[in-house]
Amino acid sequence: MTQRTIEFHDLHPTPADLAAEVLAGLRRRPRYIPPKFFYDAEGSRLFDAITATPEYYPTRVELEVLRAHAAEIARRVGTGSLLVEPGGGSCAKVRILLEGLRPCAYVPMDISRDHLWLAAERVAAEFPWLEVHAACTDFTRIMEVPISAPVGPRVAFFPGSSIGNFDPPAAVDFLAAVAELVGPGGFLLIGVDLKKDRARLDAAYNDAAGVTAAFNLNLLTRINRELGADFDLGAWQHRAYYNEALGRIEMHLASTLAQTVRVAGESFAFAAGETIHTENSYKYGIDEFQGLATRAGFGPEAVWTDADGLFSVHLLRTPEVGP
Ligand SMILES: C[S@@+](CC[C@H](N)C(=O)[O-])C[C@H]1O[C@@H](n2cnc3c(N)ncnc32)[C@H](O)[C@@H]1O
Repeated sequence: MTQRTIEFHDLHPTPADLAAEVLAGLRRRPRYIPPKFFYDAEGSRLFDAITATPEYYPTRVELEVLRAHAAEIARRVGTGSLLVEPGGGSCAKVRILLEGLRPCAYVPMDISRDHLWLAAERVAAEFPWLEVHAACTDFTRIMEVPISAPVGPRVAFFPGSSIGNFDPPAAVDFLAAVAELVGPGGFLLIGVDLKKDRARLDAAYNDAAGVTAAFNLNLLTRINRELGADFDLGAWQHRAYYNEALGRIEMHLASTLAQTVRVAGESFAFAAGETIHTENSYKYGIDEFQGLATRAGFGPEAVWTDADGLFSVHLLRTPEVGP
């Protein structure tokens, strides 16, 4: 019987990275803190809870599309690849693909270290034939396969419409980095949320149970704990809405009153109503997204959507090297 193998590779951003980026973001106007800082252990737990809310359709619909087309994906991609998943989180969706793809190894990468370790261990236990190399990294800085992972044709999996967190030029840069990671003839299987009516989008980011609000506000709890800040959680509110002109959901934390907050020894004055912008989630048409992917060096191989046209899953490929 095959022995299960798992290796952990720790490239975790240091507290100095968190401090530098948060302070720089709070000094800017408008103020902005990148969404990658949502994901401490509690943030990862809350994200999983968001995916179970009735309003948050993307996870359910993407799972449905992947299940419907897993056999075709396996047929197109083939077996024996090195499967890399940036931002794997709980590694839930990859389970649909593993038996069909039978990769030579699976490399989930995530910024949320403890959550990643547990998720990777669960995958390794569930698929005892699979070699797993979990890499804790900030993929906007370091996206490389650990050197001890086996060599093979590469396939990247990037579900969850996380590509929407980048603005379009940054999305092209990220996709170009993925193209380099997978190399010539490599694949990218990517989930992309589609443009749709405002009411459905606004509801998805404002669930009635307040889980998304708790997820957004947890960023301030994390900054209080890790950077010695004194955000008063009672004086901030979750705000999320579709900005139709820019084709993106914007998520903000709004100050309910004029207040001064200290963060890592520095004072920041906020006016009543002023916000800290915490996340964008761009929505795309199919052609619009394929245009970005093409600029990044990928060619479209296939695209699948659900019957209601809510969500798309694209299979992209880089060109083979010439003869
Ligand atoms: C929106 S969740 C999606 C999770 C999962 N891929 C899915 O489809 O359900 C984003 C995931 O990416 C991770 N993440 C966000 N920014 C990251 C970064 N810069 N580097 C590495 N991981 C990141 C988060 O920790 C989280 O697990």
